[in-house]
Amino acid sequence: MSACARGRRAAGWYGAWLLAHVGAAGAPAGHLEPFGSWAPGKPIKEWTSLPSPLEFFEHCQLDGGASEPVLMRGAAKGMPAMDWTSDEYLLEKFGGSKISGVEYDLKETRVGGQVPGMRVLRDFLSKYNTTDIYMVSQIPKEMRQDVKFLPFLRCGGYLDFLDVANLWIGRGGSKSVVHYDDQDNINCMFSGRKRFIFMHPKYKREFEAHPNTAKNRFGWVDADLDKNVKGYGAFFGNLDVDRVDLINLPGWSEVEYSYAELEPGDCLYIPYQWYHQAADAEL
Ligand SMILES: *[C@@H]1O[C@H](CO)[C@@H](O)[C@H](O)[C@H]1NC(C)=O
Repeated sequence: MSACARGRRAAGWYGAWLLAHVGAAGAPAGHLEPFGSWAPGKPIKEWTSLPSPLEFFEHCQLDGGASEPVLMRGAAKGMPAMDWTSDEYLLEKFGGSKISGVEYDLKETRVGGQVPGMRVLRDFLSKYNTTDIYMVSQIPKEMRQDVKFLPFLRCGGYLDFLDVANLWIGRGGSKSVVHYDDQDNINCMFSGRKRFIFMHPKYKREFEAHPNTAKNRFGWVDADLDKNVKGYGAFFGNLDVDRVDLINLPGWSEVEYSYAELEPGDCLYIPYQWYHQAADAEL
């Protein structure tokens, strides 16, 4: 159902909505454009100095436990990983370090699969400029000491619950699916630029209703519910993040989102269950 069809049924109030959101050709604003183009969104909260462990804990409890994403400008500036700026440097220091995952395609689809023959960092770096692949691997052992825990995580309560430390490397142009994680996430940028888009977990019921069917208005699929669905896990698998079809997935036009742009040295807190998408923003 298109925005126009809905506008005809509801009077008055919808008139203003239509003027604001329907483009000249009658298609909803942002139709067939990149994810987030239907509205401007708003920037997430920024911290210019880091919280204490207690302040961070309290931040995590806000909004009934939903909390909210925060951009921590410059929080990684003192980490040795800020020197990971050239392939030459990485090859010389860590070329022989074991890696655990390289996937096909710059655009994550969860159907590309693992690239064979990727044993050490050198295997990846020698191919990634000329092939559409990206690395998402546990941080190789030798590289781990270059990445520090942010000061507010350096105490028992947090350290007891650490799950995994991953490293993403791409040559540019890569982007993720829209999804959520069941863990809190701290994401630091050492080189390049990345844009994240966030949606509040309050949308869960709407977003995930009738998974894997045309009745879902957002493109949510749950591969674990249906063997015919490609990929793994639950995510917006019927949504093309480069060209959002707002006629077949009309729910998005009314979704409010926030966003953050990470530069080298910035870290981000992504609370668990917040829907998000990451995309290269280097251009
Ligand atoms: C990949 O391309 C970048 C950008 O042109 C270059 O700086 C880098 O050295 C290349 N890496 C390899 C391993 O050739």
